[in-house]
This record gives sequence, structure tokens and C-alpha cells, in this order.
Amino acid sequence: MAPNFWEILSSTMTKYLHGYQEEEQRRLYEQAGFLEGLIYPWIDLNRNKNLLELGSGVGGQTEILLKLYPNLSITCVEIEASQLAQAKKNLQAFQNRNIEFIHQDATKLQLEQKFDSAFICWVLEHTSDPQKVLEGVSAHLESNGIIYITEVFNSSFHFFPKLPGLRDYYQAYNAYQVKNGGNPDIGLQLGNLLHQAGFENIQVKPGGFLLDQSQPERFKLMTEYWKKLMLSSASEMVASGLIENHLVKEMESDLDKISNDPNGVFFYQFIQAKAIKP
Ligand SMILES: C[S@@+](CC[C@H](N)C(=O)[O-])C[C@H]1O[C@@H](n2cnc3c(N)ncnc32)[C@H](O)[C@@H]1O
Repeated sequence: MAPNFWEILSSTMTKYLHGYQEEEQRRLYEQAGFLEGLIYPWIDLNRNKNLLELGSGVGGQTEILLKLYPNLSITCVEIEASQLAQAKKNLQAFQNRNIEFIHQDATKLQLEQKFDSAFICWVLEHTSDPQKVLEGVSAHLESNGIIYITEVFNSSFHFFPKLPGLRDYYQAYNAYQVKNGGNPDIGLQLGNLLHQAGFENIQVKPGGFLLDQSQPERFKLMTEYWKKLMLSSASEMVASGLIENHLVKEMESDLDKISNDPNGVFFYQFIQAKAIKP
């Protein structure tokens, strides 16, 4: 039987892996602060005046950008209204700054203004058409405008000891993202995507962490962070029938075991890219 309209529509839409519950909005805000030291050393917007931030979520990155660059105006584009509403609350302390919030799909970007810079962090992994997003950014950047992107490379994750609960859960987590139209290894494609969208002076580099018992506090904090990240999709994955509840519990207990193991190791690489609009 031919699929009906709703089946076709839902097959081309990307479902957001983490959802928009209050607890997840809090996690997302905290995540930005937790990872700030890893992401921002490579970013320099000192010479820029107006920034386009795509997939701005609850404003966690926006807040860091506002603090780091006191003269920067920021236009936040976000597909989900409840994220924008929460971002406005989270950024209340910055009412004296020039911040605009736009409810729009980044794959169909249509803005009146042009920008001298753009910033995308943990967003392209959730879109089924990242090329469209970058073409839209290019159309909205002034000549010589700069774009910074930070994205996941989930296949880079290694941990020791190799416990099966975390291994199987992580495999399901990534499969779930692919099933929903996303790409958990999109980071590896950033250079190609920027090139195909017409950007020049493209630079890509890995960032991330290798943590073990030589830094026990950071190691523990990271495994706790990882647990929250993994749990953000747990109920959806269970509801979809992809995993059963016991695997969620095993994943949590494996992360505790790894962080307490004298030979425990945690390794992950994300990918950062910057490029210039000719
Ligand atoms: C993982 S969150 C990252 C949020 C923020 N960049 C940060 O790092 O805190 C991804 C955000 O991108 C948004 N998003 C996903 N697809 C989008 C699209 N096509 N257009 C605009 N926003 C999108 C989601 O709603 C979500 O708020």
C-alpha cells in the first residue's frame, strides 16, 4: 500500500534526539558551561560586531558569547519555540545587550539582515540537510564573514573497561539518532560541507578529552555529565522499543564502575571548523 501524506512528511522530518522537557533544557544550559573550556579557545570573534547563532537552544552558548565579547550583537535562530522562551529567561541578565530571537528552521533561513559572523554548536547533527543550513548561512554572511562550527564525532568515543551495558546503550543511542534523520558523525563531514557550500580558508580540527585516574575529579565529572547526556534520550528510546529499561540501568551502573576503576579511561573527540565566506 502507498504511504499516506503523514507517513511521507514524518519520514523527511528530523526528530530532535534529546527532547524539550524542562530537565533537558536545564541539562543543555549546564552543558554549555561545562564544555566551555574545550570549545572556546579556538574561537575568536574579537573583530566581529554581529553574529548569527543557529540552533541557539536555551541560550547556553549565547550567554558565553555575550560574556566573552562585550561588543557583539547576537541573532539567535531556533526551530523550537519553548527553547527560545527558555533562552529569553536564561539571558535576562543581558537586557542591555543587542539580542534578537527568531523562531525559524535553519534549513530554510530567511532573514532581512546580513552578518559578519556565524556560530553553530551541536546543531547540524540534528538536521537531515546540513548542506542547506550552510548554504543559508553563506547567503546571510557578508563577504569575508567568518563561520565557526562545533559538532559531534560519536564514533571516536572509547572507554575502558569495555563494559557491555554502556557499549550496547551507546550503539542504540547513535542508531536512534540516525533513525531520526540525524548524523552522530557529522563532525567528520564539516570540511566537505563547508567546501560544497562555497566557503574558503576552511580549517578543521579535533577537540575533546582523554580522561583517566590521573585526573580523578575531572574524570568523575565527565562520566557524570556523560550519564546525563545518555539519559536525555532514554525514555524516547525505551518508548520506541529500541531498548529495554534494564539497559538504561546497566549503562548508568557501567559509567559508575568506569569512573571508579583504577584503570578507567574516557576518550572523545568532537570536531571544530572555521571558514570564510568569499
Ligand atoms: C543540542 S541543542 C544545542 C543548542 C545550543 N547550540 C547549545 O550548544 O547549547 C540543538 C538545538 O538545535 C535546534 N535545532 C535543531 N534543528 C534545527 C533547525 N533545523 N533549525 C533551527 N534549530 C534547530 C534544537 O531545537 C536544539 O535547541
